[in-house]
Amino acid sequence: MRIYVTRRIPEGTLKLLADHDVEIYQGEIPIPRRELLEKVADASALISLLSDPIDAELMGAAPHLKVIANYAVGYDNVDIDAATKRGIVVTNTPDVLTDATAELAWALLFAAARRIGEAERFTRAGRFTGWGPQLMLGQGIRGKTLGVVGAGRIGTRFALGSRGFEMKVFYYDQERNETLEQELGAKKMDISYLMHEADFVSIHLPLTQETKHLIDAHQLARMKPTAVLINTARGPIVDEAALVAALRAGKLAAAGLDVYEREPDISKELMGIQNVVIAPHIGSATHQARGAMAELCAYAVLKVFAGEMPPNIVNREVWSKRR
Ligand code: DGY
Repeated sequence: MRIYVTRRIPEGTLKLLADHDVEIYQGEIPIPRRELLEKVADASALISLLSDPIDAELMGAAPHLKVIANYAVGYDNVDIDAATKRGIVVTNTPDVLTDATAELAWALLFAAARRIGEAERFTRAGRFTGWGPQLMLGQGIRGKTLGVVGAGRIGTRFALGSRGFEMKVFYYDQERNETLEQELGAKKMDISYLMHEADFVSIHLPLTQETKHLIDAHQLARMKPTAVLINTARGPIVDEAALVAALRAGKLAAAGLDVYEREPDISKELMGIQNVVIAPHIGSATHQARGAMAELCAYAVLKVFAGEMPPNIVNREVWSKRR
C-alpha cells in the first residue's frame, strides 16, 4: 500500500510503516497544492498536516485513498463530509497533545500577564538601567477569575492547572463538565457573562462554522481593561482585526496567541502591539507529544489497512456504512 506523508514527522513512525511504500515530502514549508494533487493519485493513505487543505478536489484526485490521518487534534483543514461521502476514514491525534497544549496556554498566560515578551525585548535592547518601582507592572494571577472557553480535553486540563492559584473558574461549553464542577467548583456560564467576569480568558474550542469569530468586537468590548486573552486553539475563533482594535483601545490588558486568522501570516498591526505575546503555533510542540502524534497517525493507517476501525476516527459514520 502506498502512503504519502506531507512533511517529515518523527522517525519512529516510519519504522511502524516499514512494510509499506512510504513517500515523505522533504520541504520545510507546506507542499505546493499541485504537487500534493499529483502525489495522492496512487496513495491509499495520506498523513497530512493542519496546514494542508484536504478538500473534495484533493479526494477526487486520490481514487485509492482509504484513510487521511491528520497530524493534529484539530481537523478543520479536512472536509469531513467529502471524506465520509467517499468512504474515506479520517483520524486525528487526541489525548497525546493535551498536556503540551494546556501547558503552552499557561505559558502564554503567565507571559502575557507579566509582560515577559516586552520585558525580554527591553532587557536585550540594553534598556535595563536598574530596578524600578514602576518598571513593567503586570497583572497578578492568584485568586483571580479564569474563563475557559471550551471545556473539552485541553480546556479541562488547562483549567485543572489553576488549582495552585486558588482561582475562581467559569467555563463556556455546550456540555456540563462534572470534573471541573466537582474538582474546582467551576461554573458553566454563557459566553457573554464569562467575557465580562473573567480576568483571564483562554480559548480551547475546535474551529467550526459556529465558533468562527465567536470572540468578536462585541465580546472583546465586554472584557475588563485588566483582562488577558489567550488563544491556543484556532486563529479564526477570534476576529483578529477586532482584537487589534480592542488592544489598541485598552479594552483588555494583553493577549497571548499561538494561532492566527490567516496562518502563517500575522498582520503588521498585531505584530506592532507590544502587549501581545506571539508564538508560532507550537501548542503541541514537545518531543513527547509530537512523537506520540506520529505514532497515532501510523497506527491509524495500519488499522484501516487491516480492516479495523482506528480508535481515533473522527467520522465514525463512515465505518458503520462499510459494515
Ligand atoms: C492541533 O493538533 O490541532 C494543534 O493545533 C497542533 O499544535
